Amino acid sequence: MPAWKSLVGLLALTGGAVSCAHHGDTEVVPEHERAELLKKWDQEWSFSGIASFAHLNPVKCLIEPSENYDIAVIGAPFDTAVSYRPGARFGPRAIRAASARQMSGTSFNTRAGINPYKSWAKITDCGDIPITPFDNGLAERQMYEAFLELGSRKTVNVAPKGGDSIGTGHPKLVTLGGDHSVALPALRALYQIYQKPITVLHFDAHLDTWNPVRYSSYWQSEQTQFNHGSFFHKASREGLISNTTSAHAGLRTRLTGVDAGDYTNPGPEQGFIRIHADDIDELGPMGVVETIIARTGLDPEQPVYLSVDIDVLDPSTAPGTGTPEPGGWTTREFIRILRGLEKLNLVGADIVEVSPAYDNKGETTALAAAQVAFEIITSMVKSGVKEDLGGWYGHLYDGETAEAEAKAAEEVTRDEL
Ligand SMILES: *[C@@H]1O[C@H](CO)[C@@H](O)[C@H](O)[C@H]1NC(C)=O
Repeated sequence: MPAWKSLVGLLALTGGAVSCAHHGDTEVVPEHERAELLKKWDQEWSFSGIASFAHLNPVKCLIEPSENYDIAVIGAPFDTAVSYRPGARFGPRAIRAASARQMSGTSFNTRAGINPYKSWAKITDCGDIPITPFDNGLAERQMYEAFLELGSRKTVNVAPKGGDSIGTGHPKLVTLGGDHSVALPALRALYQIYQKPITVLHFDAHLDTWNPVRYSSYWQSEQTQFNHGSFFHKASREGLISNTTSAHAGLRTRLTGVDAGDYTNPGPEQGFIRIHADDIDELGPMGVVETIIARTGLDPEQPVYLSVDIDVLDPSTAPGTGTPEPGGWTTREFIRILRGLEKLNLVGADIVEVSPAYDNKGETTALAAAQVAFEIITSMVKSGVKEDLGGWYGHLYDGETAEAEAKAAEEVTRDEL
C-alpha cells in the first residue's frame, strides 16, 4: 500500500487528532509527522505486505498510461493452450509469493556483484494482463496489445553506461507466465518495437518448434496452431525469430514416431541450435555458456529475448510444472549458466510453465522461478552499469573489497558478542 493511503487511513481512525491542514478533500500531513510515521511503520518484513514481485511498487501499468519504468515485471496468467497439465494461470501469483525474500535492502547478488533493486533502474511490478480464459484467439490479441503497450513506454533513468545499444530508451519486460505460448505475442510485440527478427535464447526440456500437426493431423484449425508446443514454429514462420543467432538449451524430450523427424519437420531447426541437457556433462556449465554465446553473439544492435520454461530444470528441483521431464539441470547449474550470460543484450524475458498445483509445500518450483527472475533482472540492471562489477563469477573481487568484507564480518561478530 502506498504510504499516502495508510496515512489517510490512520487519520480517519484518529478522527483528526493528528493535526493536519485541509486542501479540499485531501488531508495533508505535516512533513515531520509523515517522516515519523514512515520511520515507525514503513517497514516490511519478507513475510509481510501485499505480494508484488520482490516487494516492488505494484502499479496496474495498463491503466496508468503515464507510468514509466526501466524494467517491468508483468504477469501473464494464461494456461488454456497446454497439452498436458493445466494450472500455469496461477504461476504469476506463486512466483510473486515465492519472491518474498527478495527485498531491496537485502538483495545484493554476490554472484553478480550488484543489488539490482538498489541500482540505477526503476523496476515496477506492472500487475497482470487480464487475459480471457474463454477464447484463445482473443487472449493472443490481449497479450500482444498489452506487451506492445508496456514495451513502448518511456524509460525513466539513463543507464550509467549510456545509450549504445538498440534497447536504449526502451524499457525491458520480464513476464511471469502463464503457459509457454505467451512468448508468441511477446515476440510479436518485440518485433514491432525493434523492427527486426529477435534472437531467442530458449531454455526448455521440449522443442516448442513442433509442427502443430503433431497434436492432430486431422483436427486442425487456425486456433489449434496457437499452443504451448508450437508457438516457436509459428513465430519462426512469421519471421519473428532470427534464424542465425538463436539457441535452445536444456533439451531432452521424447519425440513422435520412430526417428528424430520432429527435429526437422517441416523446416531445418526454425533458427535454433540445440544444446541437450546431457551436454552439460561434457561441456560443464561454462561450456554451455560458451556454446550459446558463440551462437548468439554480443552485438549491441541485436535484441535478445530470453525464454525460460521452468521445466528446463529437473523435476526434483522443479516439480510444479505442466510437462515435467526427468533428467534436467539443477537450479544451481542453471543459475551458473544464467550468470555466464549476463552480457547478452536482453530486451525481454519470460519465466513460464510454473503450475503451482503440482508444486510441493516448500514452493520449490516457484522459488526456483523467482530466483531465475532475480538473476535475469540482475543481468538487465548490471548491463547498464559502467564499471566492471565482477562478482564471484566475474572474478573481479579485488583485495579492497575482500578487506572491507572481512572487516564488516568482524564487526558483526563483535556485535553478536
Ligand atoms: C527463418 O527460416 C524459416 C524457414 O525455416 C522462414 O520461414 C523464416 O522466414 C526465416 N526467418 C527469417 C527472419 O528470415
